Amino acid sequence: MRTDLKDVTVVITGSNSGIGKVAAKRFAAEGYHVVMACRNIEKSSKAHKEVIDASKNENVDLMKLDVSSFESIRLFSSEYKRKNKKLDILIHNAGYFNHGEKVYQFSPDNIELTFATNTFGPFFMTQLLKDFLTRSDDPRILTASTTNIKHFYDPRRAIELDNLHGEFKDSRPYNVYKLYGDSKMALLMLTFKMAEEYQSDGIKVNAVMIPNIRQGKESLKKFKSYYRVLGTLQNLYARPPERMAATYFHICASDEFRNVTGKLINIDNEIISPTKLPPGKGGIGLIKELLGAQHYPRYADDKEVIEKVWDVSNSLVGSTSTHNN
Ligand SMILES: NC(=O)c1ccc[n+]([C@@H]2O[C@H](COP(=O)([O-])OP(=O)(O)OC[C@H]3O[C@@H](n4cnc5c(N)ncnc54)[C@H](OP(=O)(O)O)[C@@H]3O)[C@@H](O)[C@H]2O)c1
Repeated sequence: MRTDLKDVTVVITGSNSGIGKVAAKRFAAEGYHVVMACRNIEKSSKAHKEVIDASKNENVDLMKLDVSSFESIRLFSSEYKRKNKKLDILIHNAGYFNHGEKVYQFSPDNIELTFATNTFGPFFMTQLLKDFLTRSDDPRILTASTTNIKHFYDPRRAIELDNLHGEFKDSRPYNVYKLYGDSKMALLMLTFKMAEEYQSDGIKVNAVMIPNIRQGKESLKKFKSYYRVLGTLQNLYARPPERMAATYFHICASDEFRNVTGKLINIDNEIISPTKLPPGKGGIGLIKELLGAQHYPRYADDKEVIEKVWDVSNSLVGSTSTHNN
């Protein structure tokens, strides 16, 4: 059981809107020291004030972080280390999914933007903050996965790792929906691998599979007009962000998950297991798994692909310096 919550620090990326903002409110209301890591300080100041006012906790910091940029992650980490003594909870909540985008987008490091934001940014940030996490007596990391990864039940589906620098940007179709699923599958694989690698340091690393969660006005505004309408319609049967934030909180704060690592967890705090369906099997069994939240596709446990994603991630962040002091 954690005590002295004001000294227990949680960093939540992308917490100026949506699930991240509600999670920041929840941790702050419980008395935690919250660091809102957001890319636009001016825009996020309103959310920062809202979190402080709603939680009546002044111990909430707003810090600049563009998770798609290695330089920004480096600056964030050194600033964080200057101001704090340890890190207890790291929630990789920020995500990029620009509905309707038609043109291949590059990050400041010349990496495909969806992967840079959803996969390699969280990986690099974790590496840089790992030493501060080991100073906590109960360090936990949570990554934001999605039901979109269920597309990997299709045996033909594979992460497109050979187009990360736009090698085929002019010859292959650009599909932001596929990129989102690929980048989140890669993040899930890194979550499993980091859990193994960091076990001896006592750091628990899990992922949460997020279903359709209501998007706020500020999130919908980012979409192009047609997708804004689609998002509004999707909201009709979506669950409120408070529901998801409660799951974030439970996974990162409860005793139940103190010793749980390397798992994918659903919104009801249940550990999701890999499918037992034979490869390529369709029918009612598959439909049940696609509609439910109890199983994930076996692709996520493919050791060869996990190693490949791990190697690509290490080589990309290795080409930037991990020295941040
Ligand atoms: N809502 C759903 O139905 C759903 C379903 C599955 C998974 N998820 C995942 O849940 C997480 C939260 O999403 P949400 O629904 O709450 O959407 P949201 O309101 O759009 O939140 C996304 C957050 O990520 C931030 N962000 C994006 N790119 C960033 C960058 N480069 N650096 C720093 N922050 C960045 C955004 O900041 P700006 O405001 O500056 O853009 C925003 O604060 C995401 O990882 C998403 O993929 C959501």
